[in-house]
Amino acid sequence: MKYIIGNWKMNMTAGEIVEFTRGVKKYKIPKNSPVQFGLAVPYVYLLGMAKLQGHVLIGAQNVSEHNNGAFTGEISAEMLADVGLDFCIVGHSERRTLFGETNEMINEKIKKLQEYQVLPLLCIGETEEEFTAGKTKEVLHEQLTKCLANINKEQEIIVAYEPVWAIGTGKTASIEIIKETTAFIKQELQSILGKLGTAVLYGGSVNPQNAPAILHCEGVDGALIGGASLDADKYMQIASTLF
Ligand code: 13P
Repeated sequence: MKYIIGNWKMNMTAGEIVEFTRGVKKYKIPKNSPVQFGLAVPYVYLLGMAKLQGHVLIGAQNVSEHNNGAFTGEISAEMLADVGLDFCIVGHSERRTLFGETNEMINEKIKKLQEYQVLPLLCIGETEEEFTAGKTKEVLHEQLTKCLANINKEQEIIVAYEPVWAIGTGKTASIEIIKETTAFIKQELQSILGKLGTAVLYGGSVNPQNAPAILHCEGVDGALIGGASLDADKYMQIASTLF
């Protein structure tokens, strides 16, 4: 099974979502399809989406590291679970760089999600500067070790490798880099969690053209798609690579 997860970021209106849903329905998904679809949608549309979509995992893009209380503007893990969400993205590089999220905060968020049985989808990745300096593995090791410290190892998590320099830039990591880095991440996960089998996705400028090579790359368990997931045709063309 491979995950095809769209991250809508701060995009879409209710009308555009109706159009997107109509667009997706034009595609026939085979009964034995190996694809697990998912969409991470803005908070305001979550309730409607959670009720609408049966076979699509619906997730949020962020969660508070705090329990319910006086945190104006925040959304708790308890609330996400309460509206029936399946998963929640944590540690996206945009949240790290634009909103100052640290590995320690991300760790707290994962623990809160686990407490309420919402599947955490942890994003990790190096910046262009770190990539050029040959520090990718060092950075990923630190992110994984700190973000996953003392979490419940029995509960499932998903990890997405998203090189920051590949996000929204049209530049994708080469297949060699994706293969090598995914293998490294799986090794790290095995040593941190003491088990095999954690899904590792790739994210960063995935589109219908590069999807076949990426999704069939050894060790890649799916894709986390930004821009291309806003367009039903592109989203479904990426997925149909696997049908
Ligand atoms: P793009 O696919 O637009 O590069 O975004 C990737 C991403 O950030 C998904 O979380």
